[in-house]
This record gives sequence, structure tokens and C-alpha cells, in this order.
Amino acid sequence: MKDVLFEIKENVPLAKAVYRMTLSGDASDVTAPGQFVNFRLDGLYLRRPISVCDAEGDSLTVIYKTVGEGTEQMSRMAKGETIRALTGLGNGYDLSKSGRKPLLIGGGVGVPPLYMLAKRLISEGKKVSAVIGFNSADEVFLERELSSLGCEVTVATADGRAGVRGFVTDALPDDYSYFYTCGPEPMLKAVYRRTATSGQFSFEERMGCGFGACMCCSCRTVTGYKRICRDGPVLEKEEILWED
Ligand SMILES: Cc1cc2nc3c(=O)[nH]c(=O)nc-3n(C[C@H](O)[C@H](O)[C@H](O)COP(=O)(O)OP(=O)(O)OC[C@H]3O[C@@H](n4cnc5c(N)ncnc54)[C@H](O)[C@@H]3O)c2cc1C
Ligand code: FES
Repeated sequence: MKDVLFEIKENVPLAKAVYRMTLSGDASDVTAPGQFVNFRLDGLYLRRPISVCDAEGDSLTVIYKTVGEGTEQMSRMAKGETIRALTGLGNGYDLSKSGRKPLLIGGGVGVPPLYMLAKRLISEGKKVSAVIGFNSADEVFLERELSSLGCEVTVATADGRAGVRGFVTDALPDDYSYFYTCGPEPMLKAVYRRTATSGQFSFEERMGCGFGACMCCSCRTVTGYKRICRDGPVLEKEEILWED
């Protein structure tokens, strides 16, 4: 984990209430797709965790949705300003289990970490498909960018105004070797029930400290309690115990 002062290179709207922020600074602690950074924001006691969408050299990109004070503050920041973040947090996805035809399944702001994952899997010669779901056409983002990497992309929207009408689980292909998913918990539960193979789930739970000290993100698994921020956010399908 590193505490890094980044300079904002770009902070632009991508879709309804969704922004892409590209930062310049030391991104060397980001080692796996699915890891996150935790932003320090003015006047807020708790940092705000956001998944790494891409990291290369001294450049780090995040995509975030404005839902409250912290993300609203981020959306008002301009090119040239600085922002502080803890980097290299979380375990990230394990690529070694992907097989030849991995499937990526993302919903809303669960889609960004799948971009870096797709990039890495494609660089390893894997044939990657992605099913990405949103509420409506004006919320769709990263479709073109994932296609440009070489992914076969299917979009699903709940209102049917873009792509397949329905949820990501209405658009899953039959033929895949393994899956990786990230999104809101109801989507993750539906993916758990509908998928035939093994896979990995990233949980974007609410967090406190973000680095394993406060226990407020702890959840029960088949191998005991785990802290989503430190032992996760990625859990394997076989270890998940849903609490409902
Ligand atoms: C590991 C991890 C990765 C994440 N990655 C991303 C990402 O890539 N892009 C992105 O946009 N967001 C991501 N999030 C969610 C993001 O952290 C929250 O949206 C953000 O902290 C909200 O801060 P705020 O001050 O704007 O809103 P707050 O004022 O803190 O909250 C506003 C509203 O949003 C709800 N909310 C806040 N945090 C969450 C959460 N984690 N899950 C569900 N609802 C929440 C609150 O209940 C409240 O209703 C991630 C969260 C985690 C834990
Ligand atoms: S957020 Fe503090 S232990 Fe996970």
C-alpha cells in the first residue's frame, strides 16, 4: 500500500452521472486488475474507495458515479489539481484460472475494473467476451473501449433502449470457460445462480478504513470471516456464503 499524491490529467463526463478521471503519479503498487484505490477528500473523514479501471506506468484511470458528497467533490475537480489516494489495495482478480474463453460480467460502476482485466487477459491470448448491464441507454459506458481491446461485447439495459432488454443474466452466452464479475449485490446473486462454471466475484461493499484495520467490511465465507477490503474485494464462487 502506498499513499500517493496524484495530479489530475483529465476528469470528464462519460455517461449520465459517470465520470472518468485520469491521474498521473506513482501507480506501481497496482499489481492486479480488480484492486482499488482509496481517495482522501476535503472535509470527509472516511476515504472513498474506487476500483482501478486501468493503470500503466505513471498513469491511473478510475471511473466513478456521483452518488454523494465525496463523488460530487471529485466531479468538480479540474485538470492540474491534485488528489491523494492509498493505492494497491485489495487482492484483485486471479487470471490464472480463466481458461481459454473467459466471460466478464459487469453491472453499472462494476464495469470499470473489468476493463483492465480484459486488457490483461487479451494480452495473454485469451478470447474474452463481456456482458455489461445498465439501467438505460444514457448510462452505458466502456462498450466501445472494451470492443477496441478485442472483446466480444454484449450490452443489456433494463429498459431495452440499448442492446438486449433485461439484466446481464438475460444475455449470458452458453460457451465460456470461467467468469469474472463485479456489480451491485442483487446482480452478483443472480450471476451466482445462473452461471454453470466457477468464477470470481468482486464485492464493492461499503468500507471504513479500507486497509484491514476496522473490521467493518467483514463477511462470512465457507473458510471463516474475511475482510472485503483486504482479503477481497474478489472472492471465489465456492467460498461465498450469501447472507439474506
Ligand atoms: C472496493 C470498492 C470499489 C468501488 N469501485 C467503484 C468504482 O469503480 N466506481 C464507482 O462509482 N464506485 C465504486 N465504489 C463505490 C464508491 O466507493 C461509493 O459510491 C462512494 O464511496 C460514495 O461516496 P460519496 O461520498 O459520493 O457518497 P456517500 O455520501 O458516502 O453515499 C451516498 C449514497 O451512496 C450509497 N453508497 C455509498 N457507498 C456505496 C457502496 N460502496 N455501495 C453501494 N452504495 C453505496 C450510500 O448508501 C448513499 O445512499 C466502490 C466501492 C468499493 C468498496
Ligand atoms: S474497511 Fe476497515 S477492515 Fe475493511
